[in-house]
Amino acid sequence: MKILLIGGGGREHAIATAIVKSRRCDKLYCAPGNAGIARIAECVPIGIMEFDRQIEFVKKNDIDLVVCSQDDPLCTGLVDAHEAAGIRVFGTRKNAAIIEGSKAFSKNLMKKYGIPTAAYEVFSDPDEAISYLETRAKFPIVLKADGLALGKGVLICNDIEEAKAGVVQIMEDKKFGSAGNEMVIEEFMTGREVSVLAFVDGRNIKFMSSAQDHKRAGDGDTGLNTGGMGTFSPSPFYTDKIDRQCREQIYQKTVDAMAAEGRPFKGVLYFGLMMTKDGPKVVEYNTRFGDPEAQVVIPRMKTDIVDVMEAVIDGNLDKIDLEFENNAAVCIVLASGGYPVHYEKGKVITGLESFDGREDYYCFHAGTKFDDEGRTVTSGGRVLGVTAIGSTLKEARANANKAVEWVHFDNEYMRHDIGKALDEIR
Ligand code: AMP
Ligand code: GLY
Repeated sequence: MKILLIGGGGREHAIATAIVKSRRCDKLYCAPGNAGIARIAECVPIGIMEFDRQIEFVKKNDIDLVVCSQDDPLCTGLVDAHEAAGIRVFGTRKNAAIIEGSKAFSKNLMKKYGIPTAAYEVFSDPDEAISYLETRAKFPIVLKADGLALGKGVLICNDIEEAKAGVVQIMEDKKFGSAGNEMVIEEFMTGREVSVLAFVDGRNIKFMSSAQDHKRAGDGDTGLNTGGMGTFSPSPFYTDKIDRQCREQIYQKTVDAMAAEGRPFKGVLYFGLMMTKDGPKVVEYNTRFGDPEAQVVIPRMKTDIVDVMEAVIDGNLDKIDLEFENNAAVCIVLASGGYPVHYEKGKVITGLESFDGREDYYCFHAGTKFDDEGRTVTSGGRVLGVTAIGSTLKEARANANKAVEWVHFDNEYMRHDIGKALDEIR
């Protein structure tokens, strides 16, 4: 098969690595890709939102399968556009991608179908939101812009003044753009957060191994929220008991709810879960692989990813035996100094060749490109995701901490405690 992957981040580099390993794949293209993906696929300069140009490329090059796992294009209708042109595509249609694209939609869905989540109210008028905060709110409280905001549209507010300022930022100053036309105000939950990703074909679910993300920029969960500074998989906090509770109360219920709403979900469904003292609750849904969750989950997957994607499209996922290695992975993100606020780009990256030919070490490129002299340089806030495998999480963590020393660029920074909480139990 000839396959076109849409996107150009660390998650896409992980997906690309699995696709080129597939016995089904003869040739992989990536639009637009990055300097790392270019080592294993042919990158084409077409943007993720340029559906017409993608379709033209697919037709001209006889592409058999298109793959997309990114929120913006999926929520805007990439799958619908390709399908309308007669193209086979792995991803979620717009009417189901709304499960990530609108927090008001997903919260209302959970309420309607009795899926455990934080108590909440939806507002489209800032004055009503503020009067609710003044009369009924308990602090801390969580404010969420309804729409997509690069994972940054969530504010945790400790008192009424912060919360009022938050409403103004989201709904009046439109800090997150039109994502703030509506907002959700919800109860603050405490507990560990675990991500469970699953393939879904409209009816059937196949689960991937669990993972945990580290969202804050600094060691010890300090500093600003980021897109994710590191991950590990599996999560030892995701116990068999919790898995059972989630299977009973969350997973199939969500898939059935979407089908009942006339929005059958196909693709990768990401369950962001909080292990509260009252049991697991949904923090959020995403309609795609997490980034950097993909960088620890996909390298552990034994089953051919293209077979799984085809089964999702054809609605026969029940025939697939989705298997993972009985090992562990840790991914440490190397970011540009100053991320997630201001940072410089164009720094030369050295040492990338250290990863060549190694089995259990991966250097996934997130924000890289080639400069005019053909050198690999930084082009984003999160630059690389260094993933290492181990037979245990502890071993994977030690391996990842060793491997980050192999690469370098000026002004890089990373967290030193990715997966450290594991020491409590292992
Ligand atoms: P989201 O974009 O919905 O994943 O939110 C980003 C992050 O904010 C989550 O990963 C949580 O760490 C935090 N968060 C979101 N909702 C809540 C909540 N109701 N209670 C506590 N933390 C939350
Ligand atoms: N790592 C969280 C996300 O992809 O949304």
